[in-house]
Amino acid sequence: MSEIRNVAVLGAGTMGHGIAQVCAVAGMDVVMRDVDDAALARGQRGIEGSLGKLTEKGKLDAPARDAALARIRVTTELADAVRGADLVVEAIPEIMALKIETFRAVAAHAPAHALLASNTSSLSVTEIGAASGAPERVVGLHFFNPVPLMTLLEIVRGLATSDASVERARALATRIGKEPIVVKDFPGFATSRLGVILGCEAIRMLESGVASAADIDKAMKLGYRHPMGPLELTDLVGLDVRLAILEHLHRELGEQFRPPALLRQMVRAGKLGKKSGEGFYRY
Ligand code: CAA
Repeated sequence: MSEIRNVAVLGAGTMGHGIAQVCAVAGMDVVMRDVDDAALARGQRGIEGSLGKLTEKGKLDAPARDAALARIRVTTELADAVRGADLVVEAIPEIMALKIETFRAVAAHAPAHALLASNTSSLSVTEIGAASGAPERVVGLHFFNPVPLMTLLEIVRGLATSDASVERARALATRIGKEPIVVKDFPGFATSRLGVILGCEAIRMLESGVASAADIDKAMKLGYRHPMGPLELTDLVGLDVRLAILEHLHRELGEQFRPPALLRQMVRAGKLGKKSGEGFYRY
């Protein structure tokens, strides 16, 4: 099992730049790729901000912060990003056609030994693997937001994912300080399926006027010891992201995942949560 030294992260958004950061902090050389310079610059600012906070809080010393920053290179070229990679992690939008196109290009340009991972939170790893032409090397590496602070790494095993690929994914988890679980490829895996249903019910409760957003969140924080309430968590994840997951799970698993009308309306209004300045709360 070859060691992972070089990582390509596709997508510099919230998840992508978080993944690039934790790999660089663990000593790997990282190339972060996005479609334009503005997206890359936003991702780099995110990494600098997060590393800065971790340093301020004494969780990372200044030389380690600087070394991690120096290990991250950015590019807009996919072939350039994956050419020398031992591991490719895709963190682009949750659109299957886009994932398939990307994995085909990745399989064509990455070395034959590279582990090819998707950070998808609900789409089929089996389908992505089959389309890539290298299904035994394709695995789900599902990270959680905020990536540097969340301990779980959900490893998703597609139908054709090899044992060796799962073991490489496990070894990676340990190296970047995450706790892995290995789950079968099934819509929503072990996490999103439960996570979105709670958020979905909270939105339906808000729609029916059961309680205010703040009180619904307080109920789960104080009554169930959740670190965040389901509505503030939806704001953190992004209402558009949650809606896309729900639409997929509704098609795959049925009625209990039907997206609430209020969620759809808020997304149409551009209220996407923290990233747009307003969701169930204002920021
Ligand atoms: N890097 C560094 N620091 C960060 C950060 C980041 N990326 N994001 C937040 N922080 C900082 C905050 O700025 C805050 O700093 P201040 O104290 O200076 O304000 C600090 O972390 C938060 O610290 P707290 O003491 O208030 O809270 P905490 O450390 O105990 O926990 C938390 C913070 C980990 C975010 C916690 O609230 C939590 O676990 N929330 C739930 C998150 C969750 O459920 N995520 C999963 C979402 S679902 C998903 O991601 C998958 C999907 O498929 C969509």
